[in-house]
Amino acid sequence: MSNKIAIWGGEKIVPEGMIKDWPPIDDIDEKIVLASLKGNNHSFGPNCTAFEKEFAEWNGNKYAITTNSGTAALHMCIVGCGCGVGDEIIVPAYSWSSSATCILHHNCIPVFVDIDYETMNIDVDKIEEKITEKTKAIIVVHLHGLAVNMDKINSIAKRYNLKVIEDACQAHGAKYKSKKVGTFGDCAAFSFNQNKCLCSGEGGMFVTDNEEIYNKAKMLWSFGETRRPSENRDYHSYSLGWMYRNNDLTAAFGRAQLSKLDKYLKIQDKNAAVLMEKVKDIPGLKPPVVPEGYKHNWYNFTFHIDPASYGYFGPDKIFRDAVMKAIRAEGVPVGIWQSFILPTMTVFQAKNGYGKGCPWNCPYSKDVSYAPEDYPVAQKHCDTHFGMTTPLRTPNDEKVAELVGVAIKKVFDDIKEKGGNKWVSLLEQVKEQ
Ligand SMILES: Cc1ncc(COP(=O)(O)O)c(C=O)c1O
Repeated sequence: MSNKIAIWGGEKIVPEGMIKDWPPIDDIDEKIVLASLKGNNHSFGPNCTAFEKEFAEWNGNKYAITTNSGTAALHMCIVGCGCGVGDEIIVPAYSWSSSATCILHHNCIPVFVDIDYETMNIDVDKIEEKITEKTKAIIVVHLHGLAVNMDKINSIAKRYNLKVIEDACQAHGAKYKSKKVGTFGDCAAFSFNQNKCLCSGEGGMFVTDNEEIYNKAKMLWSFGETRRPSENRDYHSYSLGWMYRNNDLTAAFGRAQLSKLDKYLKIQDKNAAVLMEKVKDIPGLKPPVVPEGYKHNWYNFTFHIDPASYGYFGPDKIFRDAVMKAIRAEGVPVGIWQSFILPTMTVFQAKNGYGKGCPWNCPYSKDVSYAPEDYPVAQKHCDTHFGMTTPLRTPNDEKVAELVGVAIKKVFDDIKEKGGNKWVSLLEQVKEQ
């Protein structure tokens, strides 16, 4: 095979069709989903209650409530923790939109904290400076499947009497000190959407060990009622409630995937180790960091690049985009996860939550600033990262992981040979294939 990279006309490393889609579907999925379809309870049916029980057991939680999304479960966390009008909730400046917008759902005020570049998670050393007398909770996001340092979070929370909410939407099976995420805070949210390590199409799970939090979250989940569909409902709204329940077909799919999740995670772990070995010594390319005592679930294998180490001194993201273009041409589907930091989203810049300035100008709230320059690390991360999900997921195996590593190495060797500036300007003339 020639060393010419695919974007200059060389042969691509990963052949078309080699990387298989996620998630794999087999007889286990077909049997349980079809049985649900042929059953007579398509709303909150028997698969929903079974899914809750099985997930709670798998993760090590006392209570679980299955929802129609991870975002619903996050909103339930806010309410379960007793957060309300004007309360400030700390959240990382880099995450999925709803890690922060779930705070607005209950008229609370998001307060952003910059991230730590290495782990890509909230910078635990910058949390205390954002705590005020209005702070009620901290949302930690175990981003891309790497847990946050929960000892530090829980010690800050204890000192300031704050609730801890874990956004574990991407982190099924990730561990901190041998314990699964979703068991450290007061409550947690998981997502089961298409791309997650546990996929049921859409859907989510709220988990907690605290009965009071469970009961509050349960009311929000189903019209403000106190009884679950499996109980004798009185259809009475005792508090403000939404309709966040899951349905039987989706829960059936989730149960099938949950029964295979440990096997999936082991394969991801092996594949990630193979890729890590291949890319660990490439100059200017930093693979994800897994600190001692942490177990990554490899939801997303995310790199940082350092353009200056190749003699490129233009905008970081131009170099990064050029690198991604060349790697994609080798047959590896790499991408940017989020290209912007959360405080720059229009909903925060324009403060257009519930209209007329609410909740920021509510008499119980204190206005906060969302100046983008306050989050320089998260901004740098946006411009210098790229990553991948499916190539490391089963049915893709170690052979695929190895070829992914070969493809990445081949591209960086080419940049080294030509020099960063020249390489980027040559690449700018090539149309993406
Ligand atoms: C970190 C994070 N939080 C929250 C969510 C929201 O989950 P969902 O799409 O199931 O509402 C997602 C996924 O989209 C996520 O990645």
